[in-house]
Amino acid sequence: MADSIYGRYEEYLEPIMNQFMDRLKDYNQSIYRDTGFKVFEHLTGRIKSDESMREKCQRKGFEVTAHSALRELKDAIGIRIVVSFVDDIYKLTDYIRSLDCCKIVKEKDYIRHAKPNGYRSYHMIVEIQTEYEDIDGNVFGNYYMEIQLRTIAMDSWASLEHQLKYKKHINNQELIVEELRRCADELASCDVSMQTIRTLIQQG
Ligand code: GTP
Ligand code: MG
Repeated sequence: MADSIYGRYEEYLEPIMNQFMDRLKDYNQSIYRDTGFKVFEHLTGRIKSDESMREKCQRKGFEVTAHSALRELKDAIGIRIVVSFVDDIYKLTDYIRSLDCCKIVKEKDYIRHAKPNGYRSYHMIVEIQTEYEDIDGNVFGNYYMEIQLRTIAMDSWASLEHQLKYKKHINNQELIVEELRRCADELASCDVSMQTIRTLIQQG
């Protein structure tokens, strides 16, 4: 088998991801103990496969090297946090911002500013300091991570839209795009209503 694009740093990616996810799980537990509400419902993580990373380097015009995969592109490690209520997203972004191990290098609020197709999520690119060596030879090495935060409604829309994107030669393309956009807007309106209901319940 050919060498991984991540070179000898490949073996660090999963432990770095898992340690960060454990931290988020601990935070979820502590919020649950204090309030009886979880701050997120689901947490998933993935290391971008060798094949997808090579393809992405080429597509973006970078050399297919470990340096491009770990420095130019910043989503070798990807974490997705799915929450019940929109406010939980901002609570989590505040928490992540407060962590000493992390520096936020980029943020995109596709919730306040949805994409034209209706896509909504909060994206953060985080630089995390780790106990592992990095490609620049730092012993407490730095690695990048992409974190996507979504409500359950945003997540179900994104996974349906993602499935449809890969189906080529669809008839009624324009109608489908318009309907997807309409669904995204309706789901967003439900998210606002659900948030209002929870706020009312919490106020007693
Ligand atoms: P890339 O990582 O090259 O896409 O960089 P970018 O700057 O375009 O990042 P962006 O924050 O727009 O998107 C990063 C990731 O968010 C994608 O890899 C998808 O997982 C997700 N995403 C962004 N836009 C969409 C969308 O329209 N539909 C769906 N289903 N997912 C999306
Ligand atoms: Mg993109």
